[in-house]
Amino acid sequence: MTREQRQLADALTTGDLWKLMRRRVPPIVSEYFRGGADAEITLRGNVRAFQQSMTTAYGALKFPAVDMSTTVVGQRLEIPWFIAPVGSIRTLYPKADAVASKVAGEFGTAMTQSTLSGTRLEEVAAASTGPCWFQLYLCGGRETALRGIARAKEAGFKALVLTMDTGVAGMRTMHARMKPMEAMRAFSGLSLGERIALAWKKLALAPQMLPRLPWLLQFYRDGGMFEFVNVLDEEGCPMPSDGDIATQLATSTVTWDDLQWIREAWGDDHPLIVKGVHCADDARKAEAHGATGVTWSNHGGRQQDRVPPVLHMVAQEMPKLKDSKLDFMMDGGIRNGTDILIALSYGLKAVGIGRVTAAGIGAGGPAGLTRAFEILRTEFERAMRLVGVASVNELRARGSEIRRESMLVGDGHLPPFDF
Ligand SMILES: Cc1cc2nc3c(=O)[nH]c(=O)nc-3n(C[C@H](O)[C@H](O)[C@H](O)COP(=O)(O)O)c2cc1C
Repeated sequence: MTREQRQLADALTTGDLWKLMRRRVPPIVSEYFRGGADAEITLRGNVRAFQQSMTTAYGALKFPAVDMSTTVVGQRLEIPWFIAPVGSIRTLYPKADAVASKVAGEFGTAMTQSTLSGTRLEEVAAASTGPCWFQLYLCGGRETALRGIARAKEAGFKALVLTMDTGVAGMRTMHARMKPMEAMRAFSGLSLGERIALAWKKLALAPQMLPRLPWLLQFYRDGGMFEFVNVLDEEGCPMPSDGDIATQLATSTVTWDDLQWIREAWGDDHPLIVKGVHCADDARKAEAHGATGVTWSNHGGRQQDRVPPVLHMVAQEMPKLKDSKLDFMMDGGIRNGTDILIALSYGLKAVGIGRVTAAGIGAGGPAGLTRAFEILRTEFERAMRLVGVASVNELRARGSEIRRESMLVGDGHLPPFDF
């Protein structure tokens, strides 16, 4: 067993994997995955909301097996969580999007590929034996989006996920302070003075790079900083990843009217999921505009800081939508199996994992993500058995019987905030 394999095997929680990821990947890169918007109140709130939720536990029950499968947007998943879209994961590990789709497929679940990824859609779909979903941003404009939709369809993607909470990019303050784009710049085209200044900036990164040479070598062997190969202009040129993504997003904000042409291009018989919904009104609008499913999400606390934790939105808004035909999912703050159990008890069909995906991939590529899935699966199964539910359907149906109101006061019982 190599040292890396031993460390992964010794990881007992996704928090352990997160620590391994932070050790393997330099902060200038890993901070992008950690950070939230502004003061990170919503980022912490997403996690704290789960930690402050209580379950009951029905005793003296024995189940020969538990059924973790679920069906969402008409697709059977063997486990009730899927990979949420995470842009630029290729900076964590070579071809990380394809690695993620392969591992998700092995566990019988879905991988959502971000528009802002560095791996071709076709490669990601080919790597998976499970369903792949394509998350759409409209950067590059309508024609560019149509090219992406056509390619995703052709490659066999099984759902389109339209993210609607990125009208402008959130301010991830801590990462912005690190000026990652400046440090990534190439020397070509610069004057002598600018080259010296840039060399100095790159040299200043030595203390974080030197202890992480394996990551650095893998990154450069994988081609270094990639382009957004699924955002192609009319000449087929990919969008550079050192461009101004914030401006790109702001000039291509999605509106309800866009859903019509997106729906038509994707096809009526293909599932369309609207992601980033915060209130029942928007869920109803999504349904009226042809959505098959909705994901409650605040983008992992990376957009508007101070919006409520996703679990609170779910608790407040789901009861208003009893007559809806939509399939509901959520993402934000899921860190362990009990979080998944609590989320599903509100009637959701599945949940997405963002930072846990980054933790697994960043800790050790396919082996790291496999470990993350194993940890979640063991925890979720244990929680089902201890709480006393034999299937995801039972869990969803019994809902409030499974949750308990907390009578603990304050936050002294909570563990230190980890990720
Ligand atoms: C580093 C990072 C990049 C993300 N990139 C995207 C993206 O490209 N598209 C998108 O719809 N959501 C994106 N998200 C949001 C996730 O899909 C998801 O909503 C969020 O990570 C869930 O919260 P969690 O990280 O607590 O699981 C990103 C999140 C992170 C942390």
